[in-house]
Amino acid sequence: MKVVETAAELSRLRDKLPGSVGFVPTMGCLHEGHLVLARRAKAENASVAVSIFVNPTQFGPQEDFRQYPRDPMRDLALLGGEGVDLVFMPPVEEIYPPGFNRWVDVGRLGRRLEGASRPGHFRGVATVVARLFELVSPDRAYFGQKDAQQLLVIRKMIADLGMNLEVVSMPTVRESDGLAMSSRNTCLNPEERKQAVVLYQALTLAKRLYNDGEKDAAAIRRKMTALIQKQPSAAIDYISIADAEILEELEEVRPPALVSMAVKIGKTRLIDNVVVG
Ligand code: PAJ
Repeated sequence: MKVVETAAELSRLRDKLPGSVGFVPTMGCLHEGHLVLARRAKAENASVAVSIFVNPTQFGPQEDFRQYPRDPMRDLALLGGEGVDLVFMPPVEEIYPPGFNRWVDVGRLGRRLEGASRPGHFRGVATVVARLFELVSPDRAYFGQKDAQQLLVIRKMIADLGMNLEVVSMPTVRESDGLAMSSRNTCLNPEERKQAVVLYQALTLAKRLYNDGEKDAAAIRRKMTALIQKQPSAAIDYISIADAEILEELEEVRPPALVSMAVKIGKTRLIDNVVVG
């Protein structure tokens, strides 16, 4: 496994990779959710590249860019175990050289849900992913359904810019109690970790209510809210029941609908989602 830090080294080694290249962009502090993406990439391509880059432009000024968990040595050991060929771990200046001014704006889709709570977030995501695609020039790129809106934004960007690659998505990997794996879970203390399972419980409740015939989105949201509010450390940012493609809020639940939420558990902001119908 080759580990490179500069765009120049990356492009030199990229040209030597044989066959199709599968690419997994990450911000590191890897867990099983990332590793399933790498495994799928390995199964579908002759070569696999992974990036580890905590992207400053997708964090707001009051957000946790500095506190975001980092563990590069452990990450490299895990990726080595998956047979990854190339790891790109650039410093910030390599992605954003002085004077950098070429942003990718993804429009309305990027301003809903996470984009409404985190203004500029998806502009940062789209910009870094476009830049990484340019540098790695993958045949396929792998993303998790855990970040459902991000997946839609990336697909839209690829279509809008006419980029020539395939996007492959993988279902959310969960802990045994249902909590979606996330690098930010390491920020939870033991008591918060117990309470964090409420996100999954609320999504499961939504699914059950829908399957039992409840189609009123507001009624489902109310019951989810009541369940989450039982946890003393939980503070709801948003709960959304939206069209799964354009993310427009629904009054009456029509499949496929994306039920998604952001909830702070103590100081840690977690997101999760499920598709119903
Ligand atoms: P990061 O949060 O590190 O996630 C990298 C990839 O792993 C994303 O596609 C994400 O959806 C996927 N992933 C994370 N947790 C998962 C889980 N529990 N199950 C399945 N997949 C999971 O997403 C980012 O980084 C960044 O925004 C990035 C795309 C790298 C751009 O900076």
